Amino acid sequence: MVGPADRAASTGIRFGTFLIAPNALYPRHVHGAEELYLIIAGSGRWSYDGEPYVRHGPGEFAHSRSWQPHAIRTGDEALLMAWIWMGDISLNSYRMEADLPDPERPAS
Ligand SMILES: [Fe+2]
Repeated sequence: MVGPADRAASTGIRFGTFLIAPNALYPRHVHGAEELYLIIAGSGRWSYDGEPYVRHGPGEFAHSRSWQPHAIRTGDEALLMAWIWMGDISLNSYRMEADLPDPERPAS
């Protein structure tokens, strides 16, 4: 909704909404931007730096630092949130880190 190529143009932030289906995994990823999620409805669990997942529910924030690996899992309900990227908002820095182990999927 807000960003360098969006309707509300900004070179300083990116902002949008994000809906994740129930029982889904948004795999571990990193980016140069600092990221803040505000949970609007439902709940999800965040893992930072490969640590165990921590639940966040409506009205709560989840925050990742610049270049901090993070992943999101949903349970039996969908997760609706607003997100904002601050700092280095270039999409060039975004990458998935699927090769890193997930704390809920032991290495085989
Ligand atoms: Fe992220």
